[in-house]
Amino acid sequence: MKILVIHGPNLNLLGRREPDIYGTRTLFELDTEISAHARAAGVEIDTFQSNHEGAIIDRIQAAGGVGVGAAQTADAIVINPGAYTHTSLAIADAIRGTGVPTVEVHLSDIHSRGGIRSRSLVADACVANIAGLGFESYLRGIDAAIEVLKS
Ligand code: DQA
Repeated sequence: MKILVIHGPNLNLLGRREPDIYGTRTLFELDTEISAHARAAGVEIDTFQSNHEGAIIDRIQAAGGVGVGAAQTADAIVINPGAYTHTSLAIADAIRGTGVPTVEVHLSDIHSRGGIRSRSLVADACVANIAGLGFESYLRGIDAAIEVLKS
C-alpha cells in the first residue's frame, strides 16, 4: 500500500509562517512524523511539496497512472492544498478525474476561520476531510486513507 502526501503552497514555510495559527514546527519535522507514522502502520509513503497548482495536478495525475503505459504510482493521496483549497476547481477535477481515493487535511480548522477560508472547493472530491488538529490531521488522514483502501 503506497500513500502520496501532497503539501500545497506555502507549507514549506511551516515554522516561520503565522506560528500562532500553524505552530513553530517545520515541514521537515512534519514529514519526519509522517514517515514514522507510516512505518508503524506498515505503509509506504511519498511526500511532495509544491507552490505551483500545475505541479500539484501533474503529481495527482501521476499517482493515478495517467500517461500512455504509465502505472499508478500511489494507491491513495493525502493532500493539504493550502490556499488552493479555496480556489482550485482544477485540483478538485484532477482528484475526480484520476479516481485515486484522496483525503483532504488542514492544520487549522478552516471551518471556523470564516470568510473564504471556510469554503473548500476540493472537499467534495475527497473521501474524507480532517481539519484543525495540527500535525495530527495528517496522521489521521493517513489512517483514513488506509481504512478506505482496506474497505
Ligand atoms: C491550510 C489552510 C488554508 O486556508 C491556508 O491557505 C493554508 C494552510 C491549513 O493547513 O490550515 O495554506 O490549508
